[in-house]
Amino acid sequence: MGCLTDCLCCPLLFWPSIIGLAAYFLRKYMQGGQFTKQTDETGKVFIVTGANTGIGKETVLEIAKRGGTVYMACRDMNRCEKARKDIIQETNNQNIFSRELDLSSLESIRKFAAGFKKEQDKLHVLVNNAGVMHCPKTLTKDGFEMQLGVNHMGHFLLTHLLLDVLKKSAPSRIVNVSSLAHSHGSINTGDLNSEKSYSRIGAYSQSKLANVLFTRELAKRLEGTGVTTNSLHPGAVDTELSRNWKFLKHPLAQLLVKPLQWVLFKTPRNGAQTTLYAALDPALKEVSGLYFSDCKPKDVSAAAQDDKTGKFLWAESEKWTGVNAAKQD
Ligand SMILES: NC(=O)c1ccc[n+]([C@@H]2O[C@H](COP(=O)([O-])OP(=O)(O)OC[C@H]3O[C@@H](n4cnc5c(N)ncnc54)[C@H](OP(=O)(O)O)[C@@H]3O)[C@@H](O)[C@H]2O)c1
Repeated sequence: MGCLTDCLCCPLLFWPSIIGLAAYFLRKYMQGGQFTKQTDETGKVFIVTGANTGIGKETVLEIAKRGGTVYMACRDMNRCEKARKDIIQETNNQNIFSRELDLSSLESIRKFAAGFKKEQDKLHVLVNNAGVMHCPKTLTKDGFEMQLGVNHMGHFLLTHLLLDVLKKSAPSRIVNVSSLAHSHGSINTGDLNSEKSYSRIGAYSQSKLANVLFTRELAKRLEGTGVTTNSLHPGAVDTELSRNWKFLKHPLAQLLVKPLQWVLFKTPRNGAQTTLYAALDPALKEVSGLYFSDCKPKDVSAAAQDDKTGKFLWAESEKWTGVNAAKQD
C-alpha cells in the first residue's frame, strides 16, 4: 500500500495516470447514444449507399446480424466485395449483396435502381449514407458540383426512382445521413452549383443542409403513404471522410491528431448507432420529418426550417435530375 502511494505521489506517474484516466472516460462519453433494442429484420430488404467503409459498412454489419437482406450500393466494386465478404464471414448472413452505384452519375443511379427492381419487389429501408466532404472543386458526370451532386442530388434521384417499391412495401423508411455541418450551411439560391465561387467547407455544409430540407419536404409529400423519412447527424466519427484533408496524411499531423481523434471521435460502430435507430426502432414507425442525433430527436437550424428554401431546392433538384421524366419511365 505504502509502495502504491509512493508511486502515485511520484509526479512522473501521477500526471500521466490522471491524464490517461481522463482521456479514457472522455472517450467513453464521446461514443454517444447507443441503439440497444433487439429487433428481428428477417424478411426485410435494405439498401445502404456508401456501404464499403465507415458508417455505411457498420450499418450493414448490424442489419446483417439481425437477419436483414441488404444491398450494399457502392461505386468501387472491389472495395464493396471485400466489405461484403467480411460481413458475411462475421454474421453468416448470405443475403448480403454488392451492387454498383456511382452517385456522381445519373446514368449509374438509374441503372442501379432498374437492376434492383428486377431482383426485388420489396424495399423496407433505404439508407442514403454515402458522402464526400471538402473535396477540391470537381464536377459530377452531369456537371453538378461534386458535394451537392453526390450528397444531395444523387440521393434525391435514387429516392425518387425507388419510391414506388418503398410505397408497395409500407411501412417503410428513408433515412438520410446528414450532419451537424448543416447548421453552418445556407442554400446559395443565386449560385446553387458554385459556379461563381466555390468553398470546400461551404459546399459540404450546403449539401448537408440540403439533406435536411429534402427530408422535411419529402416527409410532407409522403404523408399517408406509410413511408417515413428522417435525417440525422451520426456524430464526429473516425472514418475515411476526411480523406481530402491532405495535411492529415503527414506523419507529424498523424502524431498530433491520432490521439485527439481516439479521445474525441466515435468509432465507426458507434457512429452507426443513430442510423440504426432511425432505420430500425419500432417506436419510430410513424415518425417522419425529424432530425436525430445520439439516438434522439434534435432541433435543426433556422435555415433547415425554411420551407420556402425547401421548395426552391426541391424544384431545382427535379430539374437537375429529370425526376418528372423518370416518373414517366
Ligand atoms: N465521419 C463523420 O464524422 C461524419 C460526421 C457527420 C456526417 N457524416 C456523414 O456520414 C456519411 C458516411 O460518411 P463516413 O464518415 O462513413 O465516410 P467514409 O468512410 O468516407 O464513407 C463514405 C462512403 O461514401 C461513398 N461514396 C463517396 N462518393 C460516392 C459516390 N460518388 N457514389 C457512391 N458512393 C460514394 C464512399 O465510397 P468510396 O470508399 O469508394 O470512396 C464510402 O463508401 C456521409 O454522408 C457523411 O457526410 C459523417
